[in-house]
Amino acid sequence: MPKAAPNEWYSVRNSEIHGRGLYAKKKIPKDTWIVEYVGKKVSKEESDRLANELLESAKKTGGAQVYMFILNDQWDIDGNVPWNTARLMNHSCSPNVEAQTFDEKEIWFMALRDIEKGEELVFNYGFDLEFWEDHPCRCGSENCAGFIAAEEYWPTLRRKIGGKKAWLTSHKKKLAKKAAKKTAKKTA
Ligand SMILES: C[S@@+](CC[C@H](N)C(=O)[O-])C[C@H]1O[C@@H](n2cnc3c(N)ncnc32)[C@H](O)[C@@H]1O
Ligand SMILES: [Zn+2]
Repeated sequence: MPKAAPNEWYSVRNSEIHGRGLYAKKKIPKDTWIVEYVGKKVSKEESDRLANELLESAKKTGGAQVYMFILNDQWDIDGNVPWNTARLMNHSCSPNVEAQTFDEKEIWFMALRDIEKGEELVFNYGFDLEFWEDHPCRCGSENCAGFIAAEEYWPTLRRKIGGKKAWLTSHKKKLAKKAAKKTAKKTA
């Protein structure tokens, strides 16, 4: 199983994408094991119950944080515990990190490429399309799909967005404007 000292590679700070995120505190070479996704092991039944609860509260509050990770056919990991800093990793359509499962027991995040100091660590949440409209993506990457979804669903997503092309263009423009402002601030 991989190993990494806690907080060896990253620190936590406010993210441009959403809430807090993880940031590389030094250069992370490709294929480095960065952090384990820890939490409470829960049965699929319990996991479904928690997901429904989340859905109900999301209907009232308009937002929800998803912390459930599939471990195997029987068990999931509920990562919504304070000691699981990996839970703060945001989604991107251009991920620099990916999750891998070991012996159906541990979930670890690995660098997909060299990651520079200061880059936000992001992975593709791999959502299916069931509630796609509830998850607009704010990753700001050039190839952003507009909504949080696994890459395999992007062709279907593109067809679904078909009627919302104007929305997608203006959404991307807004994010690009925000990013440009940030760069201007940095260079000023
Ligand atoms: C597991 S939390 C990630 C940590 C979160 N930033 C925080 O401070 O708690 C997952 C939630 O973050 C938000 N999020 C993550 N990546 C996002 C993205 N690319 N676009 C929009 N929202 C995102 C969504 O609300 C998602 O349900
Ligand atoms: Zn995106």
